[in-house]
Amino acid sequence: MAGEERARSGALNLTGRDSAGTTNQPWETAMNKLLLPAMLSACTLLAAPAYAADAAAGKALAEESCADCHGDDGAGDADYPGIAGMSVDKFTKAMQEYQNGTRTKSAKMTKEAKKLSAAQVADLAAYYSKLK
Ligand code: HEC
Repeated sequence: MAGEERARSGALNLTGRDSAGTTNQPWETAMNKLLLPAMLSACTLLAAPAYAADAAAGKALAEESCADCHGDDGAGDADYPGIAGMSVDKFTKAMQEYQNGTRTKSAKMTKEAKKLSAAQVADLAAYYSKLK
């Protein structure tokens, strides 16, 4: 539960904006008019990875791509590890390690991980972390 809360607020923080700036000097308003659009477009470019994870999309993807090995509910079996209930952090780290080649124990799993975008990994993490 606590892990889930932390994960959720972490995901929100990625998209959160600062609400600083309460003064209303005319020159500031003028500057904001010039600067804000520039800053916003810069943010759009720089913050491309900011993404609100979609557990429902993760579930659909899991059923399609992961359930064959890890089971319908990620419970695993004698041959495949259970992945249900992994924290978002742990899950994401594992997937990144398969993708960047620092985890090499399973060529099949590496192949699966390499098919996924960062957004898909985030969706899957949101889904599996909610399972028990
Ligand atoms: C062809 C079978 C296969 C498929 C399909 C597959 N996996 Fe795996 N997965 C494995 C095997 C085998 C391991 C154990 C490898 C290891 O020990 O590193 C594993 C390990 C993992 C781990 C690490 C578990 C841990 O305890 O560290 C995660 C996370 C994972 N898989 C997620 C997924 C996801 C998400 C998908 C779907 C996109 C998926 N897997 C599809 C076979 C598969």
